[in-house]
Amino acid sequence: MERPYVIIVSEVSVDGKLTLYRGASSKELMSLMDEEAYKYLHEIRAKVDGIMVGCETVRTDNPSLTVRYAKGKNPVRIIPCSTANVPLDSNVLNVQEAPTIIATTERAPKERIEKIKEKGAEVIIAGDELVDFDILLPQIFKRGIKSLMVEGGASINWEFVRRRIVDEIRLIHLPVIVGGENVPTLVGGEGFKKLKNLLHLRLRSHFIRGKQLITEWEVINKS
Ligand SMILES: NC(=O)c1ccc[n+]([C@@H]2O[C@H](COP(=O)([O-])OP(=O)(O)OC[C@H]3O[C@@H](n4cnc5c(N)ncnc54)[C@H](OP(=O)(O)O)[C@@H]3O)[C@@H](O)[C@H]2O)c1
Repeated sequence: MERPYVIIVSEVSVDGKLTLYRGASSKELMSLMDEEAYKYLHEIRAKVDGIMVGCETVRTDNPSLTVRYAKGKNPVRIIPCSTANVPLDSNVLNVQEAPTIIATTERAPKERIEKIKEKGAEVIIAGDELVDFDILLPQIFKRGIKSLMVEGGASINWEFVRRRIVDEIRLIHLPVIVGGENVPTLVGGEGFKKLKNLLHLRLRSHFIRGKQLITEWEVINKS
């Protein structure tokens, strides 16, 4: 499959949590990050062609996904939303700031698709039930998105991990424990369950940026 180079980037607590509780915006946990961590994140944004977060992250965090703490151009925002249920006042639909693609499926009501297009975003239909990355990734690759940063959440990260369509994982470690069984962690979904199926990583580098530990991992058994 022709696809972009995929880098999952996330801030995580020491126990791997993405946020304070299920349904909470990760912005609260991210407020623990210092400016150097934001710079690290935004320097990556400035280098990639596209950036993706799941529709649930758009609904709970309302991120802009633009470059503000570094120099460089904004990546194209790609949001998988199987029924195109993205609030029309979302920051990602402010296309004056950066272009946006809403990836959706045959299930999306036509009127919703029209309203999104009226906001100036592009809509790609990829799949019947959930957004199918085997269809979406070659399409965005053709549109010039050769590198893609995936900023979560847990469900979207699992989609990339389970299909092994991830080349690197970069983590900003927050020196806190959040706890809680149902709190989203870096990767959600069903899990691999069997030792032979696990995704294997090699530590490429680790360093301190500001007060955060950063680790950068290469995926060994990618597809
Ligand atoms: N710490 C961090 O770096 C970080 C980063 C991002 C998010 N977060 C946190 O993570 C949480 C959200 O994570 P989440 O796992 O609930 O949601 P998510 O991964 O952001 O989004 C999942 C949603 O994407 C849509 N989707 C479309 N196609 C899909 C596919 N093939 N596979 C999976 N989902 C697909 C579905 O919504 P539809 O049914 O509408 O299609 C699904 O519910 C929030 O609390 C957020 O604050 C933290």
